[in-house]
Amino acid sequence: MSKVDMLISNVNIASMDDNGAPYGQILNTCVAVSEGKIVSVGEHTQARHHVDAQSGWLTPGLVDCHTHLLFAGDRAEEFEQRLQGVSYADIAKRGGGIASTVNATRHASADALFESGKQRLQTLLNEGVTTVEIKSGYGLDLDTEQRLLRVATELNKAMPQCLSRTYLGAHALPPEFSSADDYIDFVTDKVLPELHDNGLVDAVDVFCEGIGFSPAQCEKVYQAAHKLGLPIKAHVEQLSDLKGAKLASHYQALSVDHIEYLQPEDIPSIKQAGTVAVLLPGAFYFLRETQLPPIEALRQHSVPMAIASDFNPGSSPICSLLTIMNMACVLFRLTPEEVLKGVTRHAAQALGMPNKGIIAPGKDADMVLWDMTHPAQLVASMGQIRPQHVWIGGQPCR
Ligand code: NIG
Ligand code: FE
Repeated sequence: MSKVDMLISNVNIASMDDNGAPYGQILNTCVAVSEGKIVSVGEHTQARHHVDAQSGWLTPGLVDCHTHLLFAGDRAEEFEQRLQGVSYADIAKRGGGIASTVNATRHASADALFESGKQRLQTLLNEGVTTVEIKSGYGLDLDTEQRLLRVATELNKAMPQCLSRTYLGAHALPPEFSSADDYIDFVTDKVLPELHDNGLVDAVDVFCEGIGFSPAQCEKVYQAAHKLGLPIKAHVEQLSDLKGAKLASHYQALSVDHIEYLQPEDIPSIKQAGTVAVLLPGAFYFLRETQLPPIEALRQHSVPMAIASDFNPGSSPICSLLTIMNMACVLFRLTPEEVLKGVTRHAAQALGMPNKGIIAPGKDADMVLWDMTHPAQLVASMGQIRPQHVWIGGQPCR
């Protein structure tokens, strides 16, 4: 009988598969891996390499499905202003906010962006995050957006994690444009086709909001993405209800993100489209928001809910998915099981990656071993738990 590459034995698994048990758990079992894939669960086979998990817990690698990880500068001064009562929207209207990060990022070299991006990815890897989505959107002009997405492409080769690149041209109006409609034409007719031709785009995102772009403008971006066969994602209903989620699900969005102001009557269209609801408690916390996303209605309609860091310099400067997971429980009242599903299986779905986020035969061998006695320990504290081992595509990387 031929040997598998690796056997992890004496392990409890939070598989996140639908097997009727909480967390899809399988106790006191083993997992076999070959050629980067999980080949069996519960079968003691011969292996070239053996890992005794000593009754630890194995989870799928964590997936951070919404980040703005590549940027330069910081927004500490704006943080001070906000503490004195100036709102996020008012800072944006005064030319701060996203625009101030755009200015810093335009002046940053590819090398500098690569180095800071690498450190941030390492920080996430140290927490067991094996797949990361990275949005552009702090360049807005062709050169800088291209630089950001090229850096993301280089990081995908240099770091062990699997990275997904999202073009977020419709993030803010750049200073060289006075008309939002003209800028959207530039996004759809010039920048997106060129980035796509260069193979730099996995998905397309928009910021549909009073301080971002109108639903009609976002729809033009969706149409352009559709023409190129690119999936869409959307920042919607973060600060107000513009019916952006309903519109995005009309274009079969992979996900609608933020959604604090989403109205329950708009949820069936999200469900029907198979769109994932991505909740971002970091921005809710940092902006001291009070409007909660309609969690109970999402549950009732069985809409898959993902959780992500939204890591960015303004509204969620939190480079820690484990911290965000705790926030999802405390602030949004999600159960630990919903949260773990939200950063594995559902987050992978929000990226269109069905091979990730579940421990089952045939899936990618992205897995994390934790020294814990119950999976809820992942979310029940902050800053305490770290992985014992991380594998990506069956390769140890921590
Ligand atoms: O997801 N909402 C728009 N974009 C980011 C914020 C970006 C920023 O403030 O720099 C978000 O919260
Ligand atoms: Fe965001």
